[in-house]
Amino acid sequence: MTPGIRPLIAGNWKMHGTLREAVQLAEALRDGVEGVDLLVCPPFPHLHAVAVALLGGRVAVGAQDCHAAQRGAHTGDVSAAMLRDAGATHVILGHSERRTNHGENDAAVLAKTEAALAAGLLPIICVGETEAERLAGLAESVVEKQLSGSVPYGFVTAGGIIAYEPVWAIGTGRTPTESDIAAIHAAIRRILVARFGPAARTTRLLYGGSVKPANAAAILALPEVDGALVGGASLVAADFLAIAGAVPR
Ligand code: PGA
Repeated sequence: MTPGIRPLIAGNWKMHGTLREAVQLAEALRDGVEGVDLLVCPPFPHLHAVAVALLGGRVAVGAQDCHAAQRGAHTGDVSAAMLRDAGATHVILGHSERRTNHGENDAAVLAKTEAALAAGLLPIICVGETEAERLAGLAESVVEKQLSGSVPYGFVTAGGIIAYEPVWAIGTGRTPTESDIAAIHAAIRRILVARFGPAARTTRLLYGGSVKPANAAAILALPEVDGALVGGASLVAADFLAIAGAVPR
């Protein structure tokens, strides 16, 4: 953890669950965990019902993507303002599954991030290397390029969040070593502070990729790791709460 930063544990529900299951999961999480910010990111059709179920609770709601335009002829897409209207406060952008399955590049992530900020949504920009890039010793330079291409001015002062998610660790049960996670987080902090100044010292840097109750305490204790972006384990209320409970305090 970075001293002075309030931790955030975010759940990315991806394309899982019925509406009923989403609301039940939200209800099980409602009371949250003392001293930790919690966020869940349901699929679009479940977002509003989840937001209603969480009203008055300790858990915020985010989306998993948004379009860069405010409105228009974009069949199948959703604007940042619509998400805000439906109850979202955050939006995940540039997740590797979006980059891979939908060809999103850094410029697209930048445009979406600007749209999110304009609509008053807090963006969580995902960055991270592939396995081939890590093996080639390129992890840090890949992350640096993603940050420089996708993080707009205004991001840091608005409270934007970065998630370091090595592509090869997502949904695989594999994680980088603790020293590799710490090294990339330190690099991200350095890069953001160099570009945005001291305000970036309080930017929240999340780790994502196979976080579960068994490894959460060790990962969350690392310097500059201010929380986690959790996929699979966020679909089980007890596991998600256990991860939040593993935040050092
Ligand atoms: P995982 O997913 O926890 O299932 O590895 C993380 C993510 O994709 O955000």
